[in-house]
Amino acid sequence: MRKIIVAGNWKMNKTASETRVLLEELQAQLPATTAGVMVAPTFVNLAGAVEQLGGSAIEVVAQNMHFADSGAYTGEISADMLADIGIKTVILGHSERRAYFGEDDALLSKKVGKAIEKGMKVIFCFGEELADRYDKKHFEVVEKQLKNALFDLPETAWQQIILAYEPVWAIGTGETASPEQAQEVHAFIRSRVAGHSAEVADGVQILYGGSMKPDNAKELIAKPDIDGGLIGGASLKAEDFLAICRAAG
Ligand code: PGA
Repeated sequence: MRKIIVAGNWKMNKTASETRVLLEELQAQLPATTAGVMVAPTFVNLAGAVEQLGGSAIEVVAQNMHFADSGAYTGEISADMLADIGIKTVILGHSERRAYFGEDDALLSKKVGKAIEKGMKVIFCFGEELADRYDKKHFEVVEKQLKNALFDLPETAWQQIILAYEPVWAIGTGETASPEQAQEVHAFIRSRVAGHSAEVADGVQILYGGSMKPDNAKELIAKPDIDGGLIGGASLKAEDFLAICRAAG
């Protein structure tokens, strides 16, 4: 049985004081849930969030990291720096990193490799753009993204991988993949991972991301191959994020 995950990707939102307030609200009202709950504040607020949530059921995760151990990479953050403040999980490959910061499969493969080497878990994001879906190339695109960044990993490394299918056309647009559309791609993803290893495919959690909200979360998460959500906009309001946690069961 795969554990459901509800992860909030805060992106470039919330100052230090706003972060504190939102975390206080989440901590105070977190429902009893069997789901793993994660939040990803910005880099500058990670250490404070870890300290604030110490001992809580909410895990603090990072939104990105660099592939090098250390060195002349102005503005970047290493896996060791994250680990040192208590971060155990990092989001990699988000479509905004791909689109606005030129992150491609080759770079992401290096980042994933480094995170694995450092013992971190990776929430690996991927998904097709609207044009790909119109051209009916979404399966092909998704398979290529997975293959290029993950399929060279040894089987043992997959214990550190969480997948997040995020169709780009559904991110921040209010447009959600229908539960059927999402399930179709999630099942495809699992089948492709199964070509690699049946055991890995059975165990790997595949989250859905793209305008997940309190009113659609339950139906999406109920699908057999959808193991939770990576939530942007709706993770910025305690009420909405908590409602999604409740929907996750
Ligand atoms: P959204 O973002 O929920 O605002 O669509 C999801 C994401 O980018 O991870």
